[in-house]
Order: sequence, then structure tokens, then C-alpha cells
Amino acid sequence: MRNVTLVDLFKHHITRKYLRRSGVHHAVTAANYAFEIALERGVDVDQASKAALLHDIGHYEWYTNDGEWDYDDYRQNDIHAIKGAERAHKLLIRLGEDRVAAKQISVAILLHTDSYLPFHLDGKQTPLQEVVTLADNKDEQPKGMHHYKQMEISEAIRELHQLDQKIDVVYAKENIPNEQSS
Ligand SMILES: [Fe+2]
Repeated sequence: MRNVTLVDLFKHHITRKYLRRSGVHHAVTAANYAFEIALERGVDVDQASKAALLHDIGHYEWYTNDGEWDYDDYRQNDIHAIKGAERAHKLLIRLGEDRVAAKQISVAILLHTDSYLPFHLDGKQTPLQEVVTLADNKDEQPKGMHHYKQMEISEAIRELHQLDQKIDVVYAKENIPNEQSS
């Protein structure tokens, strides 16, 4: 057993609250992509899936007065990666995640995009950070439409449970000690 599963993370009220803004469908889809890409690249599948699931929990709402998403304002002023990294770290530690993993996941969220930075991250990311960026980009649609795709909560839990099982299988095969030793 891992210390914290994807289903544990998803069921927490903090995750549920903030994923409502950025989209449950996008989060679950990105987590699935991250697992596949991490597996291909020999990156930790648990950390990659968790970072991808939580990568957008720092989103604010950027609605105009008429209720439309103001994508230009968002592009210019958004810092969701910073807020998301902090929220994810707090959540992971509260749920009992290993501190080393919590940092890796949190920094991968911080650096999943360079849209808010004064420089580009191309070639500077760790393999884990790169996996999260690729998984996010794979589900991205013009004008942020990927944030609007719908997914029932029960469907999200079912998919994440399956993904948790796949991660357990990979860990068992690689013989990774996935229980905190303290
Ligand atoms: Fe995203």
C-alpha cells in the first residue's frame, strides 16, 4: 500500500473544491496520460500521476461580468502553478504523504508551465516535471476548453481507483518500497 492514493487525494474536500474550477475531467485525463508517459520513460508513476491530478488546483476564476471566462486576462495574470504547488503540498502532507515525494510532486506542479515565468523551462525540467507538462499539453484544447469537459464524480473515482491499481502493479513489479519507513 502507498501512503496516499489518487482516490484519497481526489476525495478530499480541498481537491474537490478547487478541481471544480479547473475541471475534474482534465485532472483525471492528465493523471492517466502522466501514468502512461512516466511508465514509458522510467519516471515514478505514482508521483507523476499525483502531480498531474493536482496540477491545476491553483486556478482562480477569471470570469467577466457577463459570466464568460476571460482568457486574455487569465493568460496575462495567472499564477495557478504557484498556488497549486502550495495547495498540493499542504494537502499531501496532511494526508500523510512521504515528505520527499510531497516535495517532488509539488515542484512538478510549480514547474508544469512557464507561462508565469520571465524565462522558458525548455530543457531545464526534471524528467518528472517534463512528464506532467506533456500530460497536461496532451489534453489541452484551444481557449482553455479542456477545463469545461464534464465528468461525473463517480466516474472520476472509478477511473482513479483503476489507476491506483495500475500504479500498485508497477510498484510491485519494480519492488519499490512504497510504504513509509519510519
Ligand atoms: Fe492543465
